[in-house]
Amino acid sequence: MNSITLARPDDWHLHLRDGDALASALPHSARRFARAIVMPNLKPPVTSVEAARAYRSRITAALAAAIASGELPAGARFEPLMTLYLTDRTSPREIALAKSSGFVHAVKYYPAGATTHSEAGVSALEHALPALEAMQRHDLPLLIHGEVTDPAVDVFDRERVCVETLVAHIVERFPDLRVVLEHASTREAVAFVAAARPRVAATLTAHHLLYNRGALFQGGLRPHYYCLPVLKREPHRRALVAAATGGSPRFFLGTDSAPHPRGLKENACGCAGCFTAHAALELYAEAFDAAGALERLEGFASHHGPDFYGLPRNKDTVTLVRERWAAPDELPFGGETLVPLRSAEDLLWRMV
Ligand code: NCD
Ligand code: ZN
Repeated sequence: MNSITLARPDDWHLHLRDGDALASALPHSARRFARAIVMPNLKPPVTSVEAARAYRSRITAALAAAIASGELPAGARFEPLMTLYLTDRTSPREIALAKSSGFVHAVKYYPAGATTHSEAGVSALEHALPALEAMQRHDLPLLIHGEVTDPAVDVFDRERVCVETLVAHIVERFPDLRVVLEHASTREAVAFVAAARPRVAATLTAHHLLYNRGALFQGGLRPHYYCLPVLKREPHRRALVAAATGGSPRFFLGTDSAPHPRGLKENACGCAGCFTAHAALELYAEAFDAAGALERLEGFASHHGPDFYGLPRNKDTVTLVRERWAAPDELPFGGETLVPLRSAEDLLWRMV
């Protein structure tokens, strides 16, 4: 197969940032995806429906500006699906407001300290119980960053331990709650999701499908491959590819594209996050092609996500062709630049 056409996909896990950085990041996603679940880990985090409403209007303003400047075609459409950042103090009332807003589609659980801008996250599950109970009642999905923060747990084991403890506990304690384990990176995580009760799903990133932890150390230290959860060993990568290409509706596309300025990545204490939005769909096509499963890409990228979230599938299509191209070495990012994933190497699929 040298060309593939699929229903326009959505990105079910995206960091768009804010301000000038938002203006730079947004067009890459809007060219490919119809909608995206927008992560709330701004500074300060998006903890209320009012903050989500304001952030949403900054995103739609950035979209309008990109269209006005010709960066995006006239008539370009992109719907930000907003999320709330769960804290120890998120009230059941805020959850009810979120549900009735119509534009908040999920709530994100960051164990406090697990990743970039997660300091205000949940310090202990007990503090979040009233909010989770309300989310179950209002049928508002919970999105979990599934890594424990205990420094005694090895960084490569943090997801497995979190799945066995926190995630398993939440799934059992709230039997009707829709739960997404975000950016699953281990075979234990995808096995858990595959065997879990209904209404449990996972997103998978393109970089976790394409790379194992060797990429972090290929000929030297490679900060642009550093993200959280960190890349794992090859058997884990293979398990993720099997989950993504297996046709199960529990697994769907979430890029976790997470831009940081070059200087904060190439740094003595570099930030976690890979920017993939410039070639997101192309990278997934490469991973599915390598597994001989291109015909499964549409389900993963375009059907399973909206079905899980109870939203309509997109009616228009996108086409990818097998064609080498080189992404720029760096891209503008607000007043700075960022280094996109794969900047040093050709991409194998191109979006028409
Ligand atoms: C994300 C970020 O930079 O906001 N970083 C990352 O490595 N994925 C946060 C997150 O999703 O963990
Ligand atoms: Zn993320």
